[in-house]
Amino acid sequence: MARAPISTLATRHLLGLQGMTAPELCEFLHATRELDTSSTDVARTLEGRSIANLFFEDSTRTRGSFSVAAARLGASVVDLLGSTLSISKGETLIDTACNVEAMGVSALIVRARQAGSSRMISRAVRIPVINAGDGKHEHPTQGLLDIFTLAEAHGRLEDFSLKGLTVAIVGDVASSRVARSNIAGMRTLGATVVCVGPPGMAPKSFESLGCKVAHELDPILPKADAVMMLRIQFERHGESANNPGAAGSGEAGKSLTIASVREFRERFGLTAARADRMKPGAVVMHPGPINRGIELDAQVADGPRSLILRQVSVGVLVRMAVLRALVGE
Ligand code: CP
Repeated sequence: MARAPISTLATRHLLGLQGMTAPELCEFLHATRELDTSSTDVARTLEGRSIANLFFEDSTRTRGSFSVAAARLGASVVDLLGSTLSISKGETLIDTACNVEAMGVSALIVRARQAGSSRMISRAVRIPVINAGDGKHEHPTQGLLDIFTLAEAHGRLEDFSLKGLTVAIVGDVASSRVARSNIAGMRTLGATVVCVGPPGMAPKSFESLGCKVAHELDPILPKADAVMMLRIQFERHGESANNPGAAGSGEAGKSLTIASVREFRERFGLTAARADRMKPGAVVMHPGPINRGIELDAQVADGPRSLILRQVSVGVLVRMAVLRALVGE
């Protein structure tokens, strides 16, 4: 697919994949490929600059890989984490962001519980804002790394066209910002995306995003070139389901929109037996964190179809590409 020069991007922020064109997506994807195949040390294009991780929700992969990416580019990282911030004293998200900008950092990487928070912050500051996950809305760098990993597995690195590929996104789709970014990006690059889950987790309304919706996994499995499993986001389902351990015993609260976690696993879990019915060459993906034994069996997570740790490695490259494009000029 054609590449757009990065300067033609409508904004110097990265807030979501919805609304991005194929050339805009490909610019980041080609830059990621170049970083992956680069035989020499990557130029430290951000030497002397600082990047702030402004994380109001927990993270392992996203925060860690932005930190590694920034360090490889020569930037220092300031970690500002929700539980330790002066938000607890009544400071607003916007005031927090403006104060961090005033310290002279070159970009804000923002994760927050509220959908739209990164966009709101981007309107208040003059430095690039990268959305690292805003509520159930978007997680664009996760979408980019998932697309790259899928394209790599299916030999599509030349032009990143995903035409002819069917991707099943399975589980708690409604709670998932990863799903929304992937539906947008994968659809734009030509994939067929099928969201699979019980009606409360994969509502028909998702068809308005350009994907299909199914409420049974077994008929979809043999047709999918990639199966992306999603964990149940217990923390977004209300107080009664806030303890995955208790819910894992099969006694999930009503707010989970499923009868029980046991039933969810029986109908939608990617067990070893189900993985055996996947197409030859089909791959298993998961953005993490995994709840082993619920949406995904350990044998599948660690098995030959799994791209889960490759997704994490690609995440560093994608975030380097994004930082270079938005901050390094
Ligand atoms: N995939 C993802 O966003 O993981 P973290 O919550 O650990 O960052």
